[in-house]
Amino acid sequence: MGAAVIFSIVFLLLAITSTVNSCPPGDLAALLAFKSALKEPYIGIFKSWTGNKCCENWYGVDCDSKTGRVAEISLRGELEEPMFQKAYHERYMTGMISPAICKLHHLSTIIISEWKGISGNIPACISTLAHLRHLDLVGNKITGELPTDIGKLQHLNVINLADNMITGKIPASIVNLTYLVHLDLRNNKISGEIPRNFGKLQMLSRALLSNNAITGSIPASIATMGRLSDLYLSDNQISGAIPDSIGNMSTLSTLNLDYNIITGTLPGSLLSSEGLNALNLSRNTISGYIPDVFGPRSYFTSLDLSHNDLKGTIPKSISSASYIGHLDLSYNHLCGQIPSGSPFDHLEASSFTDNTCLCGLPLKKC
Ligand SMILES: *[C@@H]1O[C@H](CO)[C@@H](O)[C@H](O)[C@H]1NC(C)=O
Ligand SMILES: *[C@@H]1O[C@H](CO)[C@@H](O)[C@H](O)[C@H]1NC(C)=O
Ligand SMILES: *[C@@H]1O[C@H](CO)[C@@H](O)[C@H](O)[C@H]1NC(C)=O
Repeated sequence: MGAAVIFSIVFLLLAITSTVNSCPPGDLAALLAFKSALKEPYIGIFKSWTGNKCCENWYGVDCDSKTGRVAEISLRGELEEPMFQKAYHERYMTGMISPAICKLHHLSTIIISEWKGISGNIPACISTLAHLRHLDLVGNKITGELPTDIGKLQHLNVINLADNMITGKIPASIVNLTYLVHLDLRNNKISGEIPRNFGKLQMLSRALLSNNAITGSIPASIATMGRLSDLYLSDNQISGAIPDSIGNMSTLSTLNLDYNIITGTLPGSLLSSEGLNALNLSRNTISGYIPDVFGPRSYFTSLDLSHNDLKGTIPKSISSASYIGHLDLSYNHLCGQIPSGSPFDHLEASSFTDNTCLCGLPLKKC
């Protein structure tokens, strides 16, 4: 082989390597526009965002090894991140998420979390990012509404937008997210009702919607969700009764409905459920009797029915529960003898105070 041939091969290889390493020009421009809308004054996380090797050297940027396109932006202000462990650094970023991010057409992950100060809206154009799987903007000051057509993001697995100031409704299109596993919208200002057909989210395992201003009743369709394990609706304005069928869900393990305006009676299915082991219904206006349906399959790490309008006695069957770690029946209208037995031996008076006429250990004798 002549020297010229070898030279050309080497040259060609170099040319290929350098195209692979350098950022596709469109992606580079989009990243620079994204960066210019943010200000991170203390650590200098964007110092590495210079030159054209965005796939190699840029902090928090990752590219798809096959296409060479930017696939991931991951900027976490969490303390566990290695860059924060060396010295004390203030973790704070202001500015907004530029719509230029939508020009990174191959993005599958956006994590811009715990920077406390990023404001502005979620760019609506984010719903055009067809490859997006993971959207995490938790712990900022994001305002505005969720993109109406978020349901177009067919690959979305994770939506984590907790701890922001997001307003407006849960978009109706959300039920089209066939592969959504994790939805965390806690601690925002979301209002309106949960879409009636929320149960279409058959892959959803965690629906965390606590501390918003959600109204309306709990959609019965939730009971058809085959993988839901955690449903948090605490601290909203949810009304109506708890659908009986919810206690029949075999995967549900934590149900937090506390601090709402729920009425109706307490479904027995919740207390006899095999899988449910943390139930908080505190601070509602649930009335009627506590169903006498406990049994050896009832296993609660925590059962909080306090601050409701429950009347009658504590059912005897509760003594047959296999375990009740924490029980709170205080602030109801219960009466009569507190059952004895192993689930009760460790409980303190505070579990039973402020009822009409409960008596027996750990309260006064009857
Ligand atoms: C869900 O997707 C279907 C099919 O693409 C569409 O016809 C429907 O309008 C979408 N639903 C919502 C609520 O956006
Ligand atoms: C719950 O399951 C029980 C036992 O399978 C059944 O008898 C009951 O009708 C179900 N309740 C609802 C509301 O689906
Ligand atoms: C249940 O919810 C109430 C009201 O939101 C809260 O104060 C209480 O700590 C919760 N109970 C448990 C066991 O977490």
